[in-house]
Amino acid sequence: MSDKSHARLLIIDFGSQVTQLIARRLRELNVYCEIHPYQNVTMDMVNAMAPKAIIFSGGPDSVTRDGSPRVPQEIFDYGVPILGICYGQQVMMHQLGGKVESGHGTAEFGRAYVTETQKLDLLEGWYQDGDEQVWMSHGDHVSEIAPGFEVYGTSPNAPYAITADTKRHFYAVQFHPEVHHTPNGAKLYEQFVKLAGFAGDWTMGAYREEMISKLKEQVGDKKVICALSGGVDSSVAAALLHEAIGDQLTCVFVDHGLLRKDEAKEVVGMFRDNMNLHVIHADESDLFLGELEGQSDPETKRKIIGKLFIDVFQKYADEIDGAEYLAQGTLYPDVIESVSFSGGPSVTIKSHHNVGGLPEKMGLKLVEPLRELFKDEVRALGHELGLPASFIGRHPFPGPGLAIRCPGKITRAKLEILREADAIYIDQIRKHGLYDEIWQAFVAILPVRTVGVMGDGRTYDYACALRAVTSVDGMTADYYPFTHEFLGETATRIINEVKGINRCTYDITSKPPGTIEWE
Ligand code: XMP
Repeated sequence: MSDKSHARLLIIDFGSQVTQLIARRLRELNVYCEIHPYQNVTMDMVNAMAPKAIIFSGGPDSVTRDGSPRVPQEIFDYGVPILGICYGQQVMMHQLGGKVESGHGTAEFGRAYVTETQKLDLLEGWYQDGDEQVWMSHGDHVSEIAPGFEVYGTSPNAPYAITADTKRHFYAVQFHPEVHHTPNGAKLYEQFVKLAGFAGDWTMGAYREEMISKLKEQVGDKKVICALSGGVDSSVAAALLHEAIGDQLTCVFVDHGLLRKDEAKEVVGMFRDNMNLHVIHADESDLFLGELEGQSDPETKRKIIGKLFIDVFQKYADEIDGAEYLAQGTLYPDVIESVSFSGGPSVTIKSHHNVGGLPEKMGLKLVEPLRELFKDEVRALGHELGLPASFIGRHPFPGPGLAIRCPGKITRAKLEILREADAIYIDQIRKHGLYDEIWQAFVAILPVRTVGVMGDGRTYDYACALRAVTSVDGMTADYYPFTHEFLGETATRIINEVKGINRCTYDITSKPPGTIEWE
């Protein structure tokens, strides 16, 4: 179990799509929590973790089905407050002697309103305007509450929307307080953790101090290597490790010749000159561009780059005498074990990880200082460590870099043109104050040349596409609604200032059906 110095909250996952949101709400309250799939929750595990409170998540199964998920019965004697949500509520009722039924026209999906029936400590400050809006999503319903429970809130379709056994501090709600559509849901979590006695001391400042002493302990006097990509995760991981172990850390920045304009200079400059990190700038652009020559298939490009990346990283790492650890910027969402109903719990592993498989291959042990954090917590930690805001807020950049923004064959000349156009586009976005509103923006150079007129002459140059999307996680995305003025001004600048481009288009495809990148 990871963090022993803070009070911990255990979230038992029954497979709801929104279990991670429960963790988010709790982290926002500065409470440390861990999500564990129900299959892994035994009393030994609970005793080892020693949580101060437990939450049962929602889930897609039906309590009425034989063999459906349960919690160990002894958990109810463990003596800490428990909150059951949706399926979790039904498990709680069922295991404590109440009844759950399927069907009978009481399934409920979507917005509903809960009315208070009597005062409850959990609901203090919760009802804002009499009836409180909540989000329901259930097929089954509780038809009889368990002994010791009373009703504190009802909705037209859920007579037992909120029930509780106040003596034992067991709370059960039919709706999902963690989603946006339950606007006052955070308040309920706030009350729950307050009742459970959490101090709310899980802050980034505290995390930084603790992580530094843990890293010192884990690494001792050994050496660590880190693949620095210039992205937020690897940058924050490197900065944190540097604070903990100083010169025992060496970063390798693999320059594949597919970076944006001035990127290598900026990243290496910041870490080496401003932060005094030991950074090796592995300029291997000749190798990468040589191998990529003539290749136009997107997957082939990715494979070549992925393989070379590992070879190059290994070559430089081998030169670092006595390295025993490899640092990775793995985040919490990458390691949460998700509930799988077809088999045992499965571990989700980041598919885009460029150094995947390396630790085994090189006989290195892993050090993952961000393993317990969500993305926005990593950003907060970055601020705490003094990384510039402009660096922390950078748009994501794919591992294969400009290779997948240059459909068709890659040439140095096309990459140069693309870099110039991209720099102007990003400059425009920053000048107009739009950078932080956009999830990702870039230019793609198209494998087509078009005719134009400039001055008295005729041109025959490349066309390019501008892309800008809004998104929360990159899984789905929408195009950014720039004004015509912005698009016109930007196209004019690119065509006038970049030699080699004479036509500009704006990509208005959403994801799905499109992808964010062009390849
Ligand atoms: P797509 O194009 O799949 O992109 O909608 C979703 C997000 O993932 C990034 N991306 C990659 N990142 N290696 C990476 O490290 C890749 O091969 C790769 N392909 C796409 C993309 O930039 C976007 O943020």
